[in-house]
Amino acid sequence: MKIEFAGVGTSRSGSLAVSVSEGARLSATAKKVDKLTKGAITRALKASRFEGKKDQVEEILAPDGLAANRILLFGLGDPKELNEATLENIGGRLVDRANKTGDTTLSVAVDAEGSKVSVADACASIAFGARLGSYRFDRYRTTEKKDAKPSVRSLIVMSGDAKGAQRVFLPRNRVGDGVILTRDLVSEPGNVLYPETFAKQARQLAKLGLKIEVLEEKRLQQIGMRALLGVAQGSAKNARVVIMRWNGAPGSKEKPIAFVGKGVTFDSGGISIKPSAGMEEMKWDMGGAGTVVGLMAALAGRKARVNAIGAVGLVENMPSSTAQRPGDVVMALSGKSIEVINTDAEGRLVLADVLWYVQNRFKPSAMIDLATLTGAIIVALGHSYAGMFSNNDELSQRITSAGEATGERVWRMPMHESYEPDIKSAIADIKNVGAGRSAGSITAALFLQHFVNDVPWAHLDIAGMAWCYKASPTVPKGGSGYGVRLLDRLVADYYESGSRSKK
Ligand code: BES
Ligand code: MN
Ligand code: ZN
Repeated sequence: MKIEFAGVGTSRSGSLAVSVSEGARLSATAKKVDKLTKGAITRALKASRFEGKKDQVEEILAPDGLAANRILLFGLGDPKELNEATLENIGGRLVDRANKTGDTTLSVAVDAEGSKVSVADACASIAFGARLGSYRFDRYRTTEKKDAKPSVRSLIVMSGDAKGAQRVFLPRNRVGDGVILTRDLVSEPGNVLYPETFAKQARQLAKLGLKIEVLEEKRLQQIGMRALLGVAQGSAKNARVVIMRWNGAPGSKEKPIAFVGKGVTFDSGGISIKPSAGMEEMKWDMGGAGTVVGLMAALAGRKARVNAIGAVGLVENMPSSTAQRPGDVVMALSGKSIEVINTDAEGRLVLADVLWYVQNRFKPSAMIDLATLTGAIIVALGHSYAGMFSNNDELSQRITSAGEATGERVWRMPMHESYEPDIKSAIADIKNVGAGRSAGSITAALFLQHFVNDVPWAHLDIAGMAWCYKASPTVPKGGSGYGVRLLDRLVADYYESGSRSKK
């Protein structure tokens, strides 16, 4: 879908969307259209329950006196309460509606009278929401009928400040690129996306100015990432670790912020094999890594004034005669020995080595990992909040704020030392699962903490967030891209030159 910004016009064909605010108050463009159509909007308001509430859309088909095939009335709600999220949802809803009509053009008139959001911002938010909401992963559909496909080719967001809108939209659109890249990666099946092909995709980001380094198995052995390699050893697919570097800070000496992702391209459970029902979902067990890659693309794409490291540990967890056994003991890169009680608790083994490697090699100012780590976090928080575990109150506060601002929410969970005995091993320094089923996400986080020194660190358990089961206006079913907007915002608000905490 092509997205353009233009001045307000009412002469285009296709779908024309105009706004009405709560209490059925017509915007300037709606009034103009009402006149042109000899009162079609006024009549529609009388004939329906549409009253301009913020989630309402109403359609007037083939209006007299207009070139457009239809008018889409959209509610703004109370203009004083208008915000980014509401506008994004409007954008998402409008394209979704227009996509089903057969119209190839959707023009949206943005008046936003009486709102605190500038008209440029409002336009950019609508466009951004439209782009995110109309995402589809349709690479593998070959027989879909033409009239089942989305019809809109061109979105025109019209306002009195098209130039301003374009300017605001540009960097946001690069973040959109990142979200969409993450969604694509998360949605790819395991036979297509495995460590080697994932690394190949990450390499592509070099064209954005990122420095990409791919560590192959031999190198990982030399380095000593034996906890990570233990997970990979049952698979015919070799492991990879990819390091992505973005140097955007004006002073190049500045310490980077580091992001680490769990990239299990398929998690069968290994010898501790998972039940077959639903196992196909484990193709998205690389969601943390997918988010890190999308985030790095976003930061580079919008030329963020920050130094950032992205690192992903890529393995496939399979059962075979070469697979790791329950009871095996592996030596992590840090020197700690790990007793592998359950081969399905593999994500923490992968992260243990990558976290240790990243903090020692890059000495980051903060380190954040993302992982579809535990089913238990879904039991605790469902699909509305990611679980956050951290050794640092300030970092936690910052991530929480960025979550509220973007709608990609996090909820901080405890990691008190009283849970530590659960992961004590009888024969090694630590074991990879806790006791029974209690506090599964917390013991997983505590395990990770063993491989983190005193760097401000946060672990986001995104098992409930990486995949979207229930579509919202801006997030269709499938890979959600969760975390890209959250962490892009975190960087923008707190780690970039010129941001709130860095003048
Ligand atoms: N990848 C899974 C966690 C998961 C479950 C992600 C559901 C997304 C949806 C992880 O590797 C795993 O298998 N965790 C186990 C840990 C257990 C063996 C201690 C779990 O959650 O059951
Ligand atoms: Mn697992
Ligand atoms: Zn897993």
